[in-house]
Amino acid sequence: MESMSGLKRTKYCGMFRASDIGEKAVVFGWVQRMRNLGGLIFIDLRDRTGVVQCTFDEAINKELFDKAFTVRSEYVLAVAGVVRSRGSDINRDKPTGEVEILASELRILSKAETPPFEIVEDSDVNDMLRLKYRYLDLRRPDMQQKIALRHRITKLARDYFDGCGFYEIETPMLTKSTPEGARDYLVPSRVHPGKFYALPQSPQQYKQLLMLAGFDRYMQVTRCFRDEDLRADRQPEFTQLDLEMSFVDIDDVIEVNEGFISLIFREILNLDMPSPFPRMKYREAMERFGTDKPDLRFGYELCDITDIVKNSGFKVFSGAVESGGSVRLINVNGAAEKISRRDIDALGEFVKTYRAKGLAWIKYSNGEVSSSFAKFMTEEELSEIKKRANAKDGDILFVVADASDDIVFASLGALRLECARRLNVIDESRFNVLWITDFPLLEYDEEEKRFVAKHHPFTSPMDEDIDLIRENPAAVRAKAYDIIINGTEVGGGSIRIHSTELQELMFETLGFSKDEAHARFGHLIEAFSYGAPPHGGIAYGLDRLTMLMAGCDSIRDVIAFPKVQNASEPMMASPDYVDKVQLDELHIKLLTEN
Ligand code: AMO
Ligand code: AMP
Repeated sequence: MESMSGLKRTKYCGMFRASDIGEKAVVFGWVQRMRNLGGLIFIDLRDRTGVVQCTFDEAINKELFDKAFTVRSEYVLAVAGVVRSRGSDINRDKPTGEVEILASELRILSKAETPPFEIVEDSDVNDMLRLKYRYLDLRRPDMQQKIALRHRITKLARDYFDGCGFYEIETPMLTKSTPEGARDYLVPSRVHPGKFYALPQSPQQYKQLLMLAGFDRYMQVTRCFRDEDLRADRQPEFTQLDLEMSFVDIDDVIEVNEGFISLIFREILNLDMPSPFPRMKYREAMERFGTDKPDLRFGYELCDITDIVKNSGFKVFSGAVESGGSVRLINVNGAAEKISRRDIDALGEFVKTYRAKGLAWIKYSNGEVSSSFAKFMTEEELSEIKKRANAKDGDILFVVADASDDIVFASLGALRLECARRLNVIDESRFNVLWITDFPLLEYDEEEKRFVAKHHPFTSPMDEDIDLIRENPAAVRAKAYDIIINGTEVGGGSIRIHSTELQELMFETLGFSKDEAHARFGHLIEAFSYGAPPHGGIAYGLDRLTMLMAGCDSIRDVIAFPKVQNASEPMMASPDYVDKVQLDELHIKLLTEN
């Protein structure tokens, strides 16, 4: 192989323009393709910025031409020459399409086997193969752009928050289990037999302690680890853009963050995101959209018909109301003709995955009414439903009844999205940003038979609700807020508790004895006793934010080396077995044989 010594890059491949004509050029990159037109060879050379055409003319230099002839796709080359116009052969589709480099020198820096898939944009390659050869997958221009976009967001974040007086401070990776709700990834200790570190699910307690330490404003771009089921917007290790501020209330945190979100949308997508962003209370989001992360780019809002059907002859409805639940519907307006009986059956199966027991429907089409439940209802009830749903000819209503409000909300919230996707009514070019506020502080966990923190146990209740904690915990609202973009929770945070008494009361409400609370969180409770500023913050899922801004559907596309569904990583083949010697050192005995 040849060396590149003595050659210095003049420009990245994708940067050449007509204004460079006549200039000397040295470029490095990978061969996108080689075409031999008999007497002329064209090599498209690619680097992270794009492609430039390098031309080898047999008539000018036969030896160089013959060398160019040996080049194959993905060879790594250095090419030196002079930039010239392509004359009549201009390619308007490429930024460098007006020019080419007439080569006077070619060095083959590395040869390449034929790759398992072609390195082109949007190629239709099996995901496992892409990830097994991730370094090749990442060579594709669209992947290069996504990773570059991620870099830009991170850089803007660091600069913006620096400008607002935030210090970037690192917190430990080897730490202690924190109650963020997911399972921990554990790391065995060699020097403390039987003890384990936990990888952080978030730097929550550390960032609060940094406020107690007087740093006033902290930020960090940091990896978090959560052993939970993967989804399109979830990874077991992901990155948070994490912030904390002292002497603030909700509006202060929101204001700084609106500045940040507006900035990145302006700088990266050239979009104006006027602040303040809309805010919606949790309860309203649930009632109208069935979810605390609503996508407001389309309608199909939920509508409560509990009062209309509570005495109806249709037991599915009246029974649900009797059991303390509700009956709600969505009006998928204008879709009566577009949704077939087969589609309805499929949607019925769909809502069952959200534990709904069935899906009732009524269609108004060409003056006719067809329905799965109309025969059980009175004319009056039907006309009330139609009026409440604001239904017109051409509409179809989907109804879910259940003894549990949570199931009604979850299934209709998901159905609303599913219908919008199927009917293609979401304007993908729009960005919808809003804050959700006034979350409940606690939610009842049926399995554990106790209250658990909706956000985390360090979140402060609203001042006016503190007295309710003992008598009616479910009614207490939190000083918590989430930022939602296009129906994805991009970030979440809260104002924290900063008093020992309130924190102890919170742990008590969560069912921890005083001793348990002190064993797990004694450091924090004690710290509050030495002078704690009121403080609060937020953490963004950087991967999710990048995914949305890059316009892709999977978080994997914006992570250089992501994990797949079963939390493994196909390229390195992790996780993997380790030697017995290593296990012995860590005092670990396996229950399963390797
Ligand atoms: P929370 O648990 O809401 O809050 O996390 C903050 C944000 O991180 C992102 N996120 C994830 N992204 C990818 N994969 C995952 N598995 C994953 N889990 C969470 C989400 C989410 O909004 N310490 C608090 C923040 C605070 O109160 O300041 C916390 O971690 O976008
Ligand atoms: P059935 O009488 O069980 O055949 O149900 C009549 C219609 O009500 C069908 O369209 C079912 O899908 C629907 N259905 C059944 N259970 C529910 C429910 N809990 N909520 C809404 N619709 C339901």
